[in-house]
Amino acid sequence: MRPSAALAAVAGVLASGVSAENYLGFNSGSTLADRSAKFKADFLAEFNTAQKLQGAPGKFNAVRLYTNIQAYSKDDPIQAFEAAIETKTKILLGIWTSGTDSISNELSALKKAITKYGKDFTDLVIGMSVGSEDLYRNSETGVKNEAGIGAEPDVLVKFINDYKKSVAGTALASVPVGHVDTWDAFVNGTNKKVIDALDWVGVDEYPYYESGKGNHIKNAGYLFDRAFDAVVAAVGGKPIWVTETGWPSSGPKWDQAEASVENAKYYWQEIGCRKLFNKVPTFWYNLRDSNPDNKMLFQITKDLSTKPLFDLTCPTTFDTPTTTAKSGSPSATGFSTASAPGSSTTGSGSGSGSGSSASTDGTGSSESGTPESGASLGMSFSTFTISGLAVVAGVFALF
Ligand SMILES: *[C@@H]1O[C@H](CO)[C@@H](O)[C@H](O)[C@H]1NC(C)=O
Repeated sequence: MRPSAALAAVAGVLASGVSAENYLGFNSGSTLADRSAKFKADFLAEFNTAQKLQGAPGKFNAVRLYTNIQAYSKDDPIQAFEAAIETKTKILLGIWTSGTDSISNELSALKKAITKYGKDFTDLVIGMSVGSEDLYRNSETGVKNEAGIGAEPDVLVKFINDYKKSVAGTALASVPVGHVDTWDAFVNGTNKKVIDALDWVGVDEYPYYESGKGNHIKNAGYLFDRAFDAVVAAVGGKPIWVTETGWPSSGPKWDQAEASVENAKYYWQEIGCRKLFNKVPTFWYNLRDSNPDNKMLFQITKDLSTKPLFDLTCPTTFDTPTTTAKSGSPSATGFSTASAPGSSTTGSGSGSGSGSSASTDGTGSSESGTPESGASLGMSFSTFTISGLAVVAGVFALF
């Protein structure tokens, strides 16, 4: 390719707003574990620790937010913005879209931030996710698990257009727009119109919760890759960002999955180091926990210490083979023993997730809810994953 053609190609990518940078970051809700609001100092503490984590395989200088709105306000910009500006933290913005017919408060908070902080703010914005796990909540398994109120594909597409209209002519107009959901939501053909409306696709994956699938830690790499490959096959070449993934360092056992520091470290290595870090834009779950309803703790450090719970350095060899997509035989992964949808051991306690989704108007705690509802989703993940894996198994059977 001639240099000018190459430049044109690069310019094309840039013009479409899709960055090739493989961001490293964590998720950050708008409230603390006691459901009180996070303020600037709380976000500052997170962002500073994230960037200084000992042994990290890169600089964790990005953050995924779930809302533009400061917790418990109507439409004040979330104070994470100021903390991000001070620490030069890149921002994946989020708009909360479940259980509402308007995102006007979200858009109002964002516009206030653009006016107030200008380029200091907008230069840091790497993406916008309109919604978080809304399709999952409205899916058959989400409903069955009382995961809370979600949003239909048409509603999400409308919100995506509302957002685009509202930032047209601002510095955010060129920022790539995505939607975050559980992986099986993207494999569900009914949701294709959402994918079609996006510049990139944000996937949440938790092999820990895949009960009935041989979800012990040694299978986590296989389970992750299966789901990831299914999304790759479903999104027609759109960039995929991994917006939530992690393994709990403490908490109750989940089918064959055990929460321990040792396993969290193994997951970090086999999924993070092998598959994601510096290869795929990645927002790990998580630097700190904030869901009082979830008994599993995903934090990789205690009290925001820069000394993590385990060694974050990446090994050079891995247990999980790199090729899984074409493998028709699940071999040693335990897939072959998969039980039928609905037969998992879950269900109890999933109702705890609905609390965080109950607030539908942009006030209260719903904005912070996603990491939280995502975590309480834990209860639900296991069942939805089973149906999801059933889909994947069907795909593989065609090869
Ligand atoms: C597929 O997506 C649609 C729309 O989001 C949803 O109503 C439906 O329940 C989903 N299917 C399954 C099997 O979850």
